[in-house]
Amino acid sequence: MTDKAKDVEIKPDVDLRKVTTEEEAREAVNKLRKALRYHNYRYYVKDDPVVSDAEYDALMQQLEKLEEEYPDLKTEDSPTQQVGGEPMDELGLVEHPEPMLSLKSVSGEEELRNFDETCRKELDLETVTYCCEPKYDGLAVELIYREGKLVQASTRGDGETGEDITANVRTIREVPLRLVDRGEVPVPEELIVRAEVFMRIDGFKELNRRREEEDEKTFANPRNAAAGSLRQLDPSVTADRPLHIYFYQIARARDLGFETQCETFDALAGWGLKVNRELNKQVKGIDAVQELFEEFREMREELPYEIDGMVCKVDRFEDQDEMGFRTNNPRWAIAYKFPPKRGTSTIKSIEVQVGRTGQLTPIAVLEPVHIGGVEVTRASLHNQSEIDKKDIRVGDTVLVERAGDVIPQVVKPIKDQRDGSEEKFKLPDQCPVCGSNVVMSDDKKQAHCTNIQCPAQLRERVKHFVSKYGMDIEGLGDRRVRGLLERKIVTRISDLYYLEEEQLRELDDIAEKSANNLLEEIEKSKDVTLNRFLFALGIPHVGQHIARVLAENFETLKDLGEAGVEELQHIHEIGPEVARAVETFFSDDENLEDIERMEEAGLEIENPHAKEGEQPLEGLKFVFTGNLEKWTRDEVKELVERLGARATSSVSGNTDYVVAGPGAGSKREEAEERDIPVMDEEEFISFLKDKGVS
Ligand code: IVH
Repeated sequence: MTDKAKDVEIKPDVDLRKVTTEEEAREAVNKLRKALRYHNYRYYVKDDPVVSDAEYDALMQQLEKLEEEYPDLKTEDSPTQQVGGEPMDELGLVEHPEPMLSLKSVSGEEELRNFDETCRKELDLETVTYCCEPKYDGLAVELIYREGKLVQASTRGDGETGEDITANVRTIREVPLRLVDRGEVPVPEELIVRAEVFMRIDGFKELNRRREEEDEKTFANPRNAAAGSLRQLDPSVTADRPLHIYFYQIARARDLGFETQCETFDALAGWGLKVNRELNKQVKGIDAVQELFEEFREMREELPYEIDGMVCKVDRFEDQDEMGFRTNNPRWAIAYKFPPKRGTSTIKSIEVQVGRTGQLTPIAVLEPVHIGGVEVTRASLHNQSEIDKKDIRVGDTVLVERAGDVIPQVVKPIKDQRDGSEEKFKLPDQCPVCGSNVVMSDDKKQAHCTNIQCPAQLRERVKHFVSKYGMDIEGLGDRRVRGLLERKIVTRISDLYYLEEEQLRELDDIAEKSANNLLEEIEKSKDVTLNRFLFALGIPHVGQHIARVLAENFETLKDLGEAGVEELQHIHEIGPEVARAVETFFSDDENLEDIERMEEAGLEIENPHAKEGEQPLEGLKFVFTGNLEKWTRDEVKELVERLGARATSSVSGNTDYVVAGPGAGSKREEAEERDIPVMDEEEFISFLKDKGVS
């Protein structure tokens, strides 16, 4: 694609409400795809986007919706089929030795205090010590030093695999190519460090000034400028850019003998890696964290670089290990974001949505308003209690805020703008979809439709069941699900597995080919893992992570179904609410029958995540080095982890055994020096046999 894509409408004016025929849909889809491809190119290749992330997301959502409603228009090369953040393979790809995770964001003091409460409870501490750092608004990178030499640098990519930017990072003056050994903390054999590369505001302005002079495109902000400078095929371009770096994390720091996050900063600085001495702080207790956050906020405008919040990490590594991880982020750290962007609008009406558990949610329909570059037309009002407490009325002028990707929130009404025509709102006593009675909890925070057969509930449950992270059945969008339900072809979830081509053909929009494709998709979904299936069932409170935890602890669905609240609650991370929801689900005969029908139709649930009952290697730490014949490094790591042990990459005082194959080098020597037993592959195999593992 050329840069001069004059025929591309950057923000095509597509109004989904006006798209009613397949022909109109096709036209809209083409426009959206053209625009999105152009934006991908601007963003990924040029590092010079011409629309905001939110505008891009809005276009993508429109396209996704259309493709969902008109599955015949879906193509394999549609921008919706390309996962975001995919690295450019021209730069070469590298795997991160340890996944680069993201951080859970919190906004507001209350959420911060909730985080602290969880930490205190889980760690059984009265006061937790945190390490607080600025949240830099740059680009995350990973650097690997072996024997003190910089051998690899990569971008985050998708967290597992990143782009190889070694040559470019080597040009950043603040990055030492060799670590300094002052002898205080010895330089480890292998050091994996994470850092943020950024451009200072003055450097960014100067760069843009120069580019303007030379008639080149300017960068939108320092973050884009930093990203564009790093992801270059020609390192001499990077060398010419004013890039800076702050190091903030050592992977596997505990294995290197460190006890706290704060203490790693001294070591990093000692080795010559730049850390933010001024702003990184060890802080005791959450009050002090909040105080420091206020200071950061005030300081923000004066800093020479951009930050968008504060990162707060539990300081002690032992405590971090105790708390562990969610699927994509640690439980022991949060990104405490600066307050969101706000705007005002008026509430035109309030709509009521019925979710898959029958919960009613009031949604404010707003006069469209731009907040931080995004058009906002709807905002969540959460529940009746919230509406009453804030005294929100239809017709009110309201303060609306947008934070991250979540649905915008109504903060409060601006009461002195009222003219008396505003109307109070009360959730209906009857379900807006099926007319059944609605029950409201005493605190007015929950309202539910009482009819389990409510079409809205069934519709949402089916949509959830077939969704990407559920059974991943493509080709069953909102429209088709509605059609199947309206014609009573599907009256419960298991009916999906009894669909026949003629039934599908009853739907208006489906051609023979796509009916067959859909049946194939459904067939394919019959082989499923237990965690996916549990998530797909849509049991209240069972999200992806909890589903995984359950799958780790129960070998089969039957075992889980037979577990009582007591047993469930004993599992780490399963609280009383989840336990009750799971038990309730599996005590319902209709649910059991539905699952049975799916199994009769050929559903096969396998569970690769079940922990082996016995943990014969519980608590042991292994280091594998050199080549093994029987396993790859990853396989052997998975094997010992399944048996309760840990595999680490470097030898430390905590290592119990080193398994060395041919080609082993300094790790073997180090083990011998430290009197740590070394086994070869054969000895390791018979060691496993002795432990009862064959
Ligand atoms: S620690 C598992 N510390 O925030 C924890 N991250 O959502 C890993 N970031 O893209 C991250 N400043 O680039 C950490 N002081 C800091 C940070 C920081 C900025 C970025 C990081 C990553 C994102 C995590």
